[in-house]
Amino acid sequence: MKIQAAVTREKGKFELDTIELAAPKSGEVLIKMVASGICHTDTAVLNQFLPVTFPMVLGHEGVGIVEDVGPGVMDLKIGDHVIMSFPSCGVCEKCHEGHPYVCDESFKLFFGGVYKDGTKRLSDDKGEIAVMFGQGSFANYAVVDERNAVKVDDDVDLKALCSLGCGVQTGAGAVLNRMKPTPGSSIVVFGCGAVGMSGIMAAKLAGCSTIIAVDTVPSRLELAKELGATHVINGKECNTPDEVKKITGKGVNYGLEATGVPMLVPQMLDSMAREGLAVIVGVTGEAEAPIRLEPQLMSPSVTLAGLVEGGSNPKVFIPQLVKFFKEGRLPVDKMCKYYKFEEIEQAFHDSHTGEVIKPVLCF
Ligand SMILES: NC(=O)c1ccc[n+]([C@@H]2O[C@H](COP(=O)([O-])OP(=O)(O)OC[C@H]3O[C@@H](n4cnc5c(N)ncnc54)[C@H](O)[C@@H]3O)[C@@H](O)[C@H]2O)c1
Ligand SMILES: [Zn+2]
Ligand SMILES: [Zn+2]
Repeated sequence: MKIQAAVTREKGKFELDTIELAAPKSGEVLIKMVASGICHTDTAVLNQFLPVTFPMVLGHEGVGIVEDVGPGVMDLKIGDHVIMSFPSCGVCEKCHEGHPYVCDESFKLFFGGVYKDGTKRLSDDKGEIAVMFGQGSFANYAVVDERNAVKVDDDVDLKALCSLGCGVQTGAGAVLNRMKPTPGSSIVVFGCGAVGMSGIMAAKLAGCSTIIAVDTVPSRLELAKELGATHVINGKECNTPDEVKKITGKGVNYGLEATGVPMLVPQMLDSMAREGLAVIVGVTGEAEAPIRLEPQLMSPSVTLAGLVEGGSNPKVFIPQLVKFFKEGRLPVDKMCKYYKFEEIEQAFHDSHTGEVIKPVLCF
């Protein structure tokens, strides 16, 4: 079938084109897209900070309605409302353990442009076109594996929830799935983008009593306060670890790095209390940062961890996040600004300048 897609043929660019989408194969579904969020990882791929091959349709925070199902689909039917998430193979040891975020095939399925069987579904008269995250959600239709489409209740506003598939799941999952904070504990969150803000909302949900948000954009720090931060620090204006120690006395129990700036990892470690847990989710591509094993890690018995996609199993975690949203405890819509699909360049621009946290393209 013919679809409209924003195709990236060279670094940094989109071309709105009519291209061909093949029918869903075994275990796959055709989704009529309602909206797609823009995540910072789209920018990283667009600018080839990650080694991808173009042409590719980017986008990995799609939401929509199932319009057709391929053979053997068990979990979804025509008409289901779905939030799309990251792909996984379903048959490796990690997938069987319920840890699809560390699937053996993650790199191929996230950035290799192909589906599980190694083939592509999109093409034009010049040849085949890849997709990001087995989605390619910057298009009005997409074919996805049923594993990475999660059915949600029909009565939720899908377009407000697109970032549950990546950004929100990443930040909220780091807190709820990995840290599992003790009520009354303290946390510092570096970065008030969608990922960091979701960490802040989740920390509030989990009962953290000191939630410190760090960013350099004043409007983002203001929203962080509204979403649950008890303290904010402008990282441009002061020494963050000193400020964290002033607020907490002994440092924080948990740290979340959600800026993607490697140099902030040492700052996070200097902000930790003894036996703290510091989690890196923001860094993409190859990164180095000067970490001192002593005294930053060993004597204080601090744990430093990396985490992909919030350590979540989307089919389980996303419905829980939707429930929190419906209860008003995860107001992710406060981060969203809606754009027409044709305004994709503007939406990326507004994300880049820091003006908009979660640009959402609507079809
Ligand atoms: N691990 C994963 O699975 C995963 C998933 C999604 C996104 N990510 C990554 O997480 C990061 C955050 O994603 P996002 O969509 O929220 O991005 P974003 O760009 O919206 O947010 C990053 C925030 O960091 C702030 N920041 C930048 N430099 C800073 C500094 N020196 N001090 C303080 N704050 C600073 C920015 O102002 C911004 O608010 C990105 O690097 C993204 O690629 C990782
Ligand atoms: Zn797997
Ligand atoms: Zn993402």
